[in-house]
Amino acid sequence: YGTTGVNNKGHLEIGGVDSVELAQEYGTPLYVYDVALMRERAKGFKEAFEQLQVNAQVAYASKAFSTIAMLQLVEEEGLSLDVVSGGELYTAIKAGFPTERIHFHGNNKSREELEMALDNRIGCIVVDNFYELALLKTICSEKDTKVNILLRITPGIEAHTHDYILTGQEDSKFGFDLQNGQAEKALLTALQCPHFEVLGLHCHIGSQIFETTGFLLAAKKIVEKMEAWKTAHSFEAKVLNLGGGFGIRYTKEDEPILPSQYVTEIIKEVKNLTEQYSLDMPEIWIEPGRSLVGDAGITLYQVGSSKEVPGVRKYLAVDGGMSDNIRPALYQAKYEAVLANKPLAKSNETVSIAGKCCESGDMLIWDLPLPETGEDDVLAVFCTGAYGYSMSNNYNRLPRPAVVFVENGDARLVVKRETYEDLIRLDLPLK
Ligand code: LLP
Repeated sequence: YGTTGVNNKGHLEIGGVDSVELAQEYGTPLYVYDVALMRERAKGFKEAFEQLQVNAQVAYASKAFSTIAMLQLVEEEGLSLDVVSGGELYTAIKAGFPTERIHFHGNNKSREELEMALDNRIGCIVVDNFYELALLKTICSEKDTKVNILLRITPGIEAHTHDYILTGQEDSKFGFDLQNGQAEKALLTALQCPHFEVLGLHCHIGSQIFETTGFLLAAKKIVEKMEAWKTAHSFEAKVLNLGGGFGIRYTKEDEPILPSQYVTEIIKEVKNLTEQYSLDMPEIWIEPGRSLVGDAGITLYQVGSSKEVPGVRKYLAVDGGMSDNIRPALYQAKYEAVLANKPLAKSNETVSIAGKCCESGDMLIWDLPLPETGEDDVLAVFCTGAYGYSMSNNYNRLPRPAVVFVENGDARLVVKRETYEDLIRLDLPLK
């Protein structure tokens, strides 16, 4: 994984830093991010477009992991940003992210959120539904301003992934349906509004997708409509945003493809289609979240209690769980892990890693081969960089872990560990 290795103490090293020392210095659970790997992933997407000489924007989907330092890194790497709430937008603004490179998503943006976006001269709003079209029109006319928009289209594609992270299928809460005429009606409504600059169309078919077929099919459906709407309504989409969703390798069972491969296949398809329909090649935007940060994150836990159910299994508990990584409980997501203090030691037992929350479903990994464990052991769970910290919670009033960035042998604390004080900060007494 990335710049991980084993140092001369026999410890897992991340970005040139000893993970056991990180656990000692910053405490556990601890999210550790390999900065070099995140930079490499960002460059991977950008270079793929550059090589194909296609005008493109790669917008990091900040829902995967959003903090001030992370967004500053995204800005350093020259990417754009996708936000889905006032909170994510606020974080971006506080990180000093250029607002003209921010795209705003969401299926129920509030008036306050839309006003905030307009007041900060955001690059583009991805309009999801008729309610939002009307609300945005009202706000724009009140403020006498104009805004760039994309229309979010639901292409009716079933991607192969977990049901909860499917988004482009026909029966979806997101977007204007292509099938039943909603999308065309939305386009006509938007084109009539003097406050909108309709840049183009957007779709996102789901997340953790390994096959390119779904992306190609979505592109085909949308380019066909681009042709139809050019003929019928003289509308020429300058931008085609194909969303995010590129899968990553969590365990040996996963066989992902490289960012460059996704991009190359998608571009080839769009080029062919636009030539076939005599359309200008639109600018291609994508919105990767997981594939930019997922495998760069590792969570370190202190090993604690264990329980043997004779003849059945051994449970080994760690000092975190579904509060810092809800993905196993929510999506049956699978992870791999090693002991950070002896990653090369031979495994001689199979244990199931339990979290510390009061919930039987709080299991991080089932049936993990490990060497015999003891009190000083630190467990390193790989690939927790996406939707780990960002979906963390205070269930059982567990404070959220700290986040550390490591690069070239240096560690930097980028999110402080929550304290018990933080937990009651907003509480007010009964009387
Ligand atoms: N664009 C849109 C419109 C999205 O809805 C999403 C993710 C992305 C981009 C980024 O997708 P990515 O490249 O990260 O797959 N919590 C779930 C994932 C939910 C994804 C929601 N939308 C998980 O932990 O697997």
